[in-house]
Amino acid sequence: MLRIGNVEIKNPVVLAPMAGVCNSAFRLTVKEFGVGLVCAEMVSDKGIVYGNERTLSMLYIDEQEKPLSLQIFGGEKESLVKAAQYVDKNTNADIIDINMGCPVNKIIKCEAGARWLLNPDKIYEMVSAVVDKVDKPVTVKMRIGWDDDHIFIADNAQAVERAGGSAIAVHGRTRVQMYEGKANWDYIKLAKESVNIPVIGNGDVLTPQDAKRMLDETGCDGVMIGRAALGNPWMMYQTVKYLESGILLPEPSVREKMDVCVLHLDRLIALKDEYIAVREMRKHAAWYLKGVSGNGKIRKEINNVETRDQLVGLLYSLVEDVETEGQITTAV
Ligand SMILES: Cc1cc2nc3c(=O)[nH]c(=O)nc-3n(C[C@H](O)[C@H](O)[C@H](O)COP(=O)(O)O)c2cc1C
Repeated sequence: MLRIGNVEIKNPVVLAPMAGVCNSAFRLTVKEFGVGLVCAEMVSDKGIVYGNERTLSMLYIDEQEKPLSLQIFGGEKESLVKAAQYVDKNTNADIIDINMGCPVNKIIKCEAGARWLLNPDKIYEMVSAVVDKVDKPVTVKMRIGWDDDHIFIADNAQAVERAGGSAIAVHGRTRVQMYEGKANWDYIKLAKESVNIPVIGNGDVLTPQDAKRMLDETGCDGVMIGRAALGNPWMMYQTVKYLESGILLPEPSVREKMDVCVLHLDRLIALKDEYIAVREMRKHAAWYLKGVSGNGKIRKEINNVETRDQLVGLLYSLVEDVETEGQITTAV
């Protein structure tokens, strides 16, 4: 079992925070596939402090998603601490996570995200200021460094620990790498060897076997999965089971996959209205369709759907094609 502060997490599989993806609808769908911990998409500290309506709606958490880690980002101590206090007192999140990995210019320019990776003293100052003012455990998600010449992961991880942080998630890429190249797991191992708080490894875990390899090779306490879960939440269940028993479960049928996609869609509609949810769901539907034979036929049409019924109709028309094809093949 993984423990972060006073939060007990029943297995080491963690859903990564992903902006534009990890809202309550997706998190709950992934949670039902057995993951130990789900992370919410990053939320702006200033948005919280100024009471921005859209930002505050991002703080909604269904009880069934718990335990949940809620990530905030910001570049100034005062607003970061205030936002953390708001999350501490007004949400049912279990853990407050601070983003030190976001590589995009818009965030870096505000001295937030990966910007801090160049300065362990600043990491210490910001994390300890937050830890002092909240009751929930505070964690940090960071990249290994800024670029190949500035990889301070050991110092940075120790700064989080000294500041009272309860765990660290380490994405094995530098800021400059963005999402290119390979995640370097050696630095996840180095982080693990540098601190006594739990370290969650992240980057390029695509299969249940990758998850096991990351745990074995780095000694990390948990494994965080991002992109491999997109349109593929059952991959999390396969991973949990593989780590528990060494058994690799088969892929679900196309009908089962589309049933999950529609469940996700309906949750998104309940969360936002149908107009927004269906548009947001187009990208998810394309992910759910990855690898499904004959998907090319409906992929383009999916980009134009406007209502739930249109989208559901398209998805199940593909299921029927696949099942009919299967029956013909079996008969022959
Ligand atoms: C669409 C998308 C959005 C992301 N948003 C966030 C975010 O809000 N906060 C964060 O710390 N990382 C974010 N990340 C990074 C992921 O959490 C993760 O570190 C990265 O994708 C590497 O893990 P993976 O190889 O399992 O995908 C995002 C990644 C993607 C693909």
